[in-house]
Amino acid sequence: MVPLGPLPGTCWIPLISLLLVYCLLPPGAQGQKFLLQVELQDPVVPAGGSLLVNCSTKCPNPKLISLETFLLKEPVGNGLGWAAFRLSNVTTDSNVLCSGFCNGSQMTGSSNITVYRFPEHVELASMSLWKPVGKNLTLRCSVKGGAPRTHLSVLLLRGEEVLSRQLAVGEPAEVTATVLVSRNDHGANFSCRTELDLRPQGLGLFQNNSAPSHLRTFVLPVTPPRLIVPRLLEVGTSGLVDCTLDGLFPASEAQVQLVLGDQMLNPKVSSQGDTLKATATVTANTELEGTWKIVCNVTLGGESQETQENLTIYSFWGPIMNLSGTIMNLSEPTVLEGTTVNVTCTAGPRVQVMLDGAPAVTTGQLALLQLNATQRDDKRSFFCNATLEVDGVVLHRNRSVQLCVLSRNPLTVTIIIAVFVTLGLLVVIAALVYVFWGRSDIYHVNRGSNRLPLTTEQPDEALREQLS
Ligand SMILES: *[C@@H]1O[C@H](CO)[C@@H](O)[C@H](O)[C@H]1NC(C)=O
Ligand SMILES: *[C@@H]1O[C@H](CO)[C@@H](O)[C@H](O)[C@H]1NC(C)=O
Ligand SMILES: *[C@@H]1O[C@H](CO)[C@@H](O)[C@H](O)[C@H]1NC(C)=O
Ligand SMILES: *[C@@H]1O[C@H](CO)[C@@H](O)[C@H](O)[C@H]1NC(C)=O
Ligand SMILES: *[C@@H]1O[C@H](CO)[C@@H](O)[C@H](O)[C@H]1NC(C)=O
Ligand SMILES: *[C@@H]1O[C@H](CO)[C@@H](O)[C@H](O)[C@H]1NC(C)=O
Ligand SMILES: *[C@@H]1O[C@H](CO)[C@@H](O)[C@H](O)[C@H]1NC(C)=O
Ligand SMILES: *[C@@H]1O[C@H](CO)[C@@H](O)[C@H](O)[C@H]1NC(C)=O
Ligand SMILES: *[C@@H]1O[C@H](CO)[C@@H](O)[C@H](O)[C@H]1NC(C)=O
Repeated sequence: MVPLGPLPGTCWIPLISLLLVYCLLPPGAQGQKFLLQVELQDPVVPAGGSLLVNCSTKCPNPKLISLETFLLKEPVGNGLGWAAFRLSNVTTDSNVLCSGFCNGSQMTGSSNITVYRFPEHVELASMSLWKPVGKNLTLRCSVKGGAPRTHLSVLLLRGEEVLSRQLAVGEPAEVTATVLVSRNDHGANFSCRTELDLRPQGLGLFQNNSAPSHLRTFVLPVTPPRLIVPRLLEVGTSGLVDCTLDGLFPASEAQVQLVLGDQMLNPKVSSQGDTLKATATVTANTELEGTWKIVCNVTLGGESQETQENLTIYSFWGPIMNLSGTIMNLSEPTVLEGTTVNVTCTAGPRVQVMLDGAPAVTTGQLALLQLNATQRDDKRSFFCNATLEVDGVVLHRNRSVQLCVLSRNPLTVTIIIAVFVTLGLLVVIAALVYVFWGRSDIYHVNRGSNRLPLTTEQPDEALREQLS
């Protein structure tokens, strides 16, 4: 009951407003004793889905129960005090209104429909496979679609660890997180996940995951590798090339190349802890003669460090000594007294030779010493010293040969001896023939002595005189 007595001034304005609202209301509402209920089968529907709406009232004689909506609707049944409709292709949130009449007065009721949809697209921006340890890595996730946004969160994950969780804002929603890359991140899987939380609506938690990004982290020191190479290598020999780099992570995944000139060496590579070691053997052959660059190149995470050193491959044969006019060629060259002997020494085009006693020659030339062999040259040694300068390093090689000179011409001596021996033999044979056949009648066997008779000794004495 509204009191009619005079009221304090301050109360008049709200009272008049109340009366005005009361008079302006539709006539049905004034007498709306009965409510029109809007019953939604599911107030939260998936995008594009459909739902049943039941408009019902307790009014005993209701009329014209209808549903007002811009959505596609079709009546699916009615009965006493109710009418049901199917709404289809529900793509946006909307408000539906039921209306009807009860005893000439209008009844209305409304309800909200919420549409949910999963994101169409959850993507972690591509990042380079390898990241240096100690640098910041920015993870970026882009989410397209998804509703209702008030229930949609975006998470950035390392494995299952949540690095960042934010509500999706904007279309597409962009979410970033920064992580300081550590060695522990090597092999980690980063991903982006959306969570549409419709648990309060009784629907559950819906997750969508991006494809994971597999991160590999590395440490490549700023120092170049340590390369140990022999400075000089003689043709026919082998040398070790050794390349080491410390402080690498993960050392076992680093690539190492050893190159000689334009030729790839095939190194044996091993890693221990943070150290990588590559070893190769270089076998010097004549085709490789010259100065080469040996490069050791270590590559990790798309970056590389290299060192180069020079290697000179040379050949140094000899010196070779030759003596002309020798008659015997065994261990010692032998000449006859009076023979002219040419002693030569040579050791290739870039080598300087020095033959004892011979005039000096320039690099590459043959040293020659000529002599008339005398008795004094017997057992004389000839010494040849070869000098090769390779890349600033002076190398020496030497050889010596001893000469043998014979007493007189040995051929003459041999002939004379042979003649004398032959003559002697002839005389002995002649004497024997004379004793056994020519004087056989006067030969008596002396049984007391086995010596020949004195007469038979005469030819011996003659021979002895001849020989002396
Ligand atoms: C609509 O609601 C009324 C009253 O609650 C009920 O009797 C009727 O069966 C419902 N109709 C449908 C189709 O659910
Ligand atoms: C559903 O609604 C959307 C727009 O809201 C429309 O483009 C589409 O054609 C509709 N689909 C059907 C089957 O009516
Ligand atoms: C990485 O980012 C953090 C802030 O996110 C900053 O404080 C730090 O200095 C950055 N570190 C490097 C190495 O850039
Ligand atoms: C990352 O994912 C791959 C497969 O996608 C799996 O083999 C690997 O174990 C994962 N790494 C970690 C650290 O979980
Ligand atoms: C080192 O080797 C890698 C891989 O072969 C190559 O890409 C890079 O160019 C090399 N670095 C240098 C400085 O030669
Ligand atoms: C020694 O003899 C061999 C063959 O018997 C010959 O090839 C070589 O040239 C000789 N050497 C000298 C220094 O005469
Ligand atoms: C060797 O002797 C010959 C003559 O017998 C002579 O012409 C020549 O000059 C001599 N050579 C040397 C090096 O003494
Ligand atoms: C060989 O010759 C070089 C100079 O050409 C000299 O320095 C070196 O001492 C010599 N060696 C011998 C053993 O004579
Ligand atoms: C000659 O060379 C040998 C090694 O080949 C060395 O032992 C020797 O000392 C050298 N002789 C001289 C006199 O230089």
